[in-house]
Order: sequence, then structure tokens, then C-alpha cells
Amino acid sequence: MKILVTGGLGFIGSHTVVELQNEGFDVVIADDLSNSSINVLDGITAITGKKPEFEQIDLRDKKAVQDFFKKHDNVSGVIHFAASKAVGESVENPLLYYENNIGVLVYLLQELQKKEESYFIFSSSCTVYGQAEKMPITEDAPVQAAMSPYGNTKQIGEEIIRDTAGVTGINAILLRYFNPVGAHASAHIGELPIGVPQNLVPFITQTAIGLREQLSVFGDDYPTPDGTCIRDYIHVVDLAKAHVTALKRLIEKKNKEKVEVFNLGTGKGNSVLEVINTFEKVSGKKLNYKIVDRRAGDITEAYADTRKANDVLGWKAELALDDALSSAWKWEQKIRNK
Ligand code: UD1
Repeated sequence: MKILVTGGLGFIGSHTVVELQNEGFDVVIADDLSNSSINVLDGITAITGKKPEFEQIDLRDKKAVQDFFKKHDNVSGVIHFAASKAVGESVENPLLYYENNIGVLVYLLQELQKKEESYFIFSSSCTVYGQAEKMPITEDAPVQAAMSPYGNTKQIGEEIIRDTAGVTGINAILLRYFNPVGAHASAHIGELPIGVPQNLVPFITQTAIGLREQLSVFGDDYPTPDGTCIRDYIHVVDLAKAHVTALKRLIEKKNKEKVEVFNLGTGKGNSVLEVINTFEKVSGKKLNYKIVDRRAGDITEAYADTRKANDVLGWKAELALDDALSSAWKWEQKIRNK
């Protein structure tokens, strides 16, 4: 069986392709290169010794999606990463997000539902919980009204999958990621943000390398021990492995429902200042940062209750924050030739 990885040249996608190939899966990547680079294929090949099949496709083109499934008719497993993910941009241009994140999902499911049985892994986000009332966050915490079109596409995406799986041969797992960070230990692949990074860790590494002058810490007056926000930073390699575990669960028919949902995090919350301190420790670099006002839309804290992922899925994060930050730093140095 061949596995389609949409967005397979992106940050989480590329690390997942590596883990799939390590486990012996045949992979075909569909990516439009809108937020990724073709060089990532070489990075994947350098790690696994095997070049995955690659199709440069804009999945918003329904005919292209149909043609893809005609050509690759042995694809019945899909790991779907291809999506837009910048919260601010989604507020400015909501229809771009609904087209990329919802339109494409519909086209993929339309092709999969033609098969007697198929397997679908969806990249969802802890953003569906909003500011949850209780920490750590369990999978049955209520989904709250989305704060952005981006967040809304994750919620609507989950609902579309539930509705469709209920009446077709599609089996699905919805993976709600906490904060993915880090890079492959080999430094052959990592995160490649276009323009100014919006996320904390790439902003830290770009500041440390001299590309950005100063890191802004968005607020130190939150009700947390040091006043900065708390998140659950999960190493991208651990996250990638969870996708392979989830896919195998479906293929081996171990799933208990047509659609299952799992939180993917470490279970540990770290504040922004703790991330900075850990980065300084692993890199030996002093970081130039300044406390500024809060960023609109940020929640105070979010970290995962990992019991369901541990006990039911059989997956557990193995790497710690310092592993994630040192790999991100190694990657940043590699891509800047330092
Ligand atoms: C953000 C999105 C989230 C999305 C995820 C995808 C927002 C509000 N949330 O999560 O919906 O699923 O990215 O990757 O955009 N921080 C700084 N300085 C910076 C950057 C971040 O202090 O320059 C702080 C933030 O206030 C936050 C933490 O670092 O407390 C993590 O921020 P970030 O990496 O952007 O992730 P989220 O906001 O959790």
C-alpha cells in the first residue's frame, strides 16, 4: 500500500515522510511548494537512503486531485498536512484559508470515499480547545468558538471528516497537535519559515544567528508563575512518529471508532522564559530579548493530557525540550552556513 502525504515537504510533513520510510512504507508526496522547498526531497533522501515519489500539485485544483488518484490508484492511506497555518493571515484573507484548508480536504475525501476502505490522518490543533478551563487538556474538553478563520478550518475540518467517515469506508484519526518544534537530529531537514517567523522557536533561533535583532516576549503579566504564557512544546520527530503509529492503528484495524481523536503533546507546560533559558543553556548563546505587550489572541496556557495517546494509541513523546531546542539550533546554523 502506498501512502499519500500531502504537504510532505513541509515542516511536520517531511519529518513524517522520514518516519514512514523508516518503517518501510512507500510514500508519494503531493506538495505545491507554496511554503516549502524542493531541496527538502534531498534532505529526506539523505536520511532514509530512499527518494520518495513526488508530485508537484496544487490540491485546490479538483481535476488535479482526481488525476492524482487515477495515477496512484493503490493509495488508500492519506496523511494530510497541506494547509495554511498563519493565524493573522487567515484573519486578513479568510477565503484563502477556507479554500486551502477546507476545499482541499473535501476533494481528498471525495476520492477516498470511492474506495471500499481507506485511512485518513488529519492535522488538527489544540487551538480547537481555545483557553481550556482545566489543565492538562483532555480530548473531551469542549471545543470552543474559534478565534480565527485558521482555527475555524481545523474545527470544520474535524466535523467534515466525522460526517463523511460515518457513511463511507473512510477511517480517520484526528491528531490535535500542541506546539511542534525542533528538527531532525541529522540537520538534513527542519523548519523553513518564509519571511518573519510568527512562532517562538524559529524566532529564537533566527535571533541567535543574527538574522533578527531582538526577540519580543509577548507579555509577562499572565497569571502564570513567571508571568509568561505556557505551552506544550513537542519535538517534531516525536510528532512524526505519532502519525506512523496512528496510520498503523487504522491499517491494522485496531481503531475502536470510525473517527478517533488524540492530543499530541509532552504533557509538560513550559513558559516563554523557560524556553529562552533552555535555549541559552543548550546553545551557549545569550539571547537578546525584551518584554513587550501581549499579542492579541494568545491564550494563557495549554498543555496536553497525554494519557489517551499513551494508553490507547500507544505513543509517548520521548524527546525533551532541550533536545528540541538543540536540534532547532543545529538546523538554523546549518541553513545559514555557520
Ligand atoms: C500559534 C497559533 C496557533 C497555531 C500554531 C501553529 C496564535 C495566537 N496561535 O500557536 O493557533 O496552531 O501557532 O504553529 O498565533 N511568543 C513570543 N514571541 C514571539 C513569538 C511567540 O513571546 O516572537 C510567545 C507567544 O506569546 C506564545 C508562545 O511564545 O506564548 C508560543 O507562540 P507560538 O509559537 O506563536 O505558538 P502559539 O501561539 O501557541
